[in-house]
This record gives sequence, C-alpha cells and structure tokens, in this order.
Amino acid sequence: MGDALILRFAALLSAWGLISGHSRVTIVWSRLPAGPPMTDSKTEALSSTLASTIDPILQRPLAELGYITSARTKRLGAAVIDVLLPVPGPPGHALIETVTSAARSVPGVRSVQIRHELMTDEQRDDLMSRVRGEKRAVGGPGSSTYVIAVSSGKGGVGKSSVTTNLAVSLAGLGHTVGVIDADVWGYSIPKMLGAEGAPAVIADSIIPLRAHGVSVISIDYFVPDGQAVVWRGPMLHKALEQFLTDVFWDEPEFLLIDMPPGTGDIAISISQFVPRARVLLVTTPQPTASRVASRAARMADRVDQKVIGVVENMSWFVGDDGKHYEIFGSGGGADLAEATGVDLLAQIPILEAMRSGADRGDPVKVAAPGSEAVHAFDDLARRLIATRPRIRMHPELRIG
Ligand SMILES: Nc1ncnc2c1ncn2[C@@H]1O[C@H](COP(=O)(O)OP(=O)(O)OP(=O)(O)O)[C@@H](O)[C@H]1O
Ligand SMILES: [Mg+2]
Repeated sequence: MGDALILRFAALLSAWGLISGHSRVTIVWSRLPAGPPMTDSKTEALSSTLASTIDPILQRPLAELGYITSARTKRLGAAVIDVLLPVPGPPGHALIETVTSAARSVPGVRSVQIRHELMTDEQRDDLMSRVRGEKRAVGGPGSSTYVIAVSSGKGGVGKSSVTTNLAVSLAGLGHTVGVIDADVWGYSIPKMLGAEGAPAVIADSIIPLRAHGVSVISIDYFVPDGQAVVWRGPMLHKALEQFLTDVFWDEPEFLLIDMPPGTGDIAISISQFVPRARVLLVTTPQPTASRVASRAARMADRVDQKVIGVVENMSWFVGDDGKHYEIFGSGGGADLAEATGVDLLAQIPILEAMRSGADRGDPVKVAAPGSEAVHAFDDLARRLIATRPRIRMHPELRIG
C-alpha cells in the first residue's frame, strides 16, 4: 500500500510540474463588460468577499488559510489578486476559478487578474499544522465523528448504493459527511458518486475528493490503473489506518464506511481503530439474504460493535400500472431487524434510474429527484441524525 501510494503521488506531482522545478507565475485574465469606476470601498468589499469564500480544496473560508497574499482594486474596475496555491494541477485550478468568480461577484469589479505561485514546503507544512491542529484519527479518542460501517453478509445487495445515497442525503440536510470506500475488491464509490480522479496531498495530509457535498477516499485512488492487487490482512489494516489518520477529514459529523461483502479482516480492523463505530446492515427482502446478513450482525457482536439498524434494499418495484411488485420476495428486512433486536430503518425500492445514475456517477437525488427512493434515503438520514449518539470529546475526563 505504502509504495503504491507514494508512486501514485510522485507521478501526480511530477505531472503537475511540482517536482520538476520552481513555481511559475501565470496571469489569468477574466474580463467583464465595462461598468462604473472602482472606489477604495471596493477593495474592502473584494477583501471581505474573498475572506468568506470557501476553499474548494480544504472546505474552509479563505481567510483561515492565508492563500490570498494581496487583493486590491485599481482604476477601471480591475481587481488584482495574489494567490499562494497549496497544490498545482486540477485542485489548484479549481481554487483559481473559485477566487476569480468570487472577485467577479463584487459589484464594480470589471476584470480580474490573478497572479499565483506555489507554496513552498514550509508554507504547506505551516498551513496543514494550522488547519489540522493536533493530528488524530477520525473516530478515535477525542473525535466527535459518528462512524457508521455499512455492512452485509453478502455481495450485491446494495451496500455501496446505500452508502452513496445516504451520504448525499446527510449532506443535503446540512451535515458534514465523509465516506471511506473500504471495499478493496469491488471499490465502487468513486464511480457511483462521480468522484473520480486522484486526491491532492498537502504536506503529509491526503485531501479527500469531493462530490455532491461529500468527501470521499477510496482504495481505488491508490491502486495503479488496471492492476489487480493482492491484499493481505496486514496491508488492509495499514490502508485503513492511513485512511483514518492521514486523510484530512476535518472532523465531519458523519463518516460512512462502505464495507467489503462478508465478514472479515476489514471488520476486525475497524473494530480496533474505531471501537465506537456502529454498523448499519443492508439486506434484500429475500429470507436467504437476511440469514446471510445476520452473520454480519453476529460478527459485529463478536467485536463489540453495536448494530444501529437494518436497511432493506430492492424492496419492491413500482410498475407503470402503479402496482408494487415484490421481485425479491418480502419480509427479509423485518426478519433481520427482529433477529438482531434493532429497527428496520428504511425500505428502498428498485428504481432503474438508481442503477443507471450510479453507472454515470449521479446519486439518485440527481438521477430521479423527488422519487420514492430519494424520500426513503432522506428519511433514513433524518433517523440517523436524530439518534446520533452524544460523543464525549474528552473521554479521559471523568467526574468523581
Ligand atoms: N434500489 C436499487 N434500484 C436499482 N438498482 C439498484 C438498487 N440498489 C442497488 N442497485 C444496483 O445494483 C448493483 C449492486 O449494488 P451495489 O453495488 O450498491 O451493491 P453492493 O452490496 O455494494 O455490492 P458489492 O458487494 O459488490 O460491493 C449496482 O449496479 C447498483 O446500481
Ligand atoms: Mg459495494
């Protein structure tokens, strides 16, 4: 894992010109139609607009990050902004675009000139130590993140679909959400969420990709294209540890982990790294599927993880005649919930748009807005928000 990761980043950095030489200064012009001349108050307006603009890389206001070293307005509505980029390549371009469009939104600005250069290693180290503070594992001691492992006994029941769409619903309801795609054999979250590419690295932090308001890290990002990787238990353990520790999650309210099918090494590793993680079981309505899923429940029990509920996926299909067709039978979700002593939290219908959307990178909220499936995921998200445990930030402090 370590070597693959380093190689991948080295390739990326050299493609972006970071390794090969000094940072360049590029001038980007963005002209708007002529308007009234600028005044000094426009410089103030420009500065305050930029200060509150959210950085597309670290998702923090620019004022906290020190990227903007100077922003002023000149005659004829020209804004001149000096930007220190933490990384080159696509993330850096996204930052320049964000700064440009924020500047353009200031009344009276008619043209925007961005002068940018790359941060030095020291500046990057300083940036990350400021925003990360003391580096600690998400979900570990001192973390307030609610970690939910989405599991099932067998493959193909919809774990990744539930993880993706639940994450999008949580984000849509205003919560911060991260997703770890821990399915080493069948990583599918980047494709389903339309978050393909490569994560940026700043100092020693891996920056997750973002899509639909969700931060994502996947094994997919670290496996060389088209190569099969044989994962041994210790490698998986290490990979997961890196995802929890070296990724800049910025303490999201929720972290969903898409588990590989079955019960095994990853489940044990999660129970060690994130003992507080809860398990959400996914099953189809078939009695056999729910029996297999109950093995995942027993596994959770063995490693002292609490199951928070069951999601039944592919519950029915609504035909053109408006009737419900129970293609995979019925009752599996309710049976599993009863056997596990938890609630059946959601039933998700079969929706062609959900499958075709997933293949294009569109969650069901985009592929079939307003559909029954969207309501089901939003309701599931609300239930999880309402039952989110209160997490003590300082478990070492005890009264008495
Ligand atoms: N409710 C649904 N309606 C339509 N298609 C669905 C639904 N749920 C899942 N699918 C589709 O079924 C297939 C399997 O789903 P998914 O990949 O989410 O399952 P999984 O449990 O994560 O599988 P694996 O064990 O292989 O990781 C995908 O093509 C997905 O788009
Ligand atoms: Mg999957």
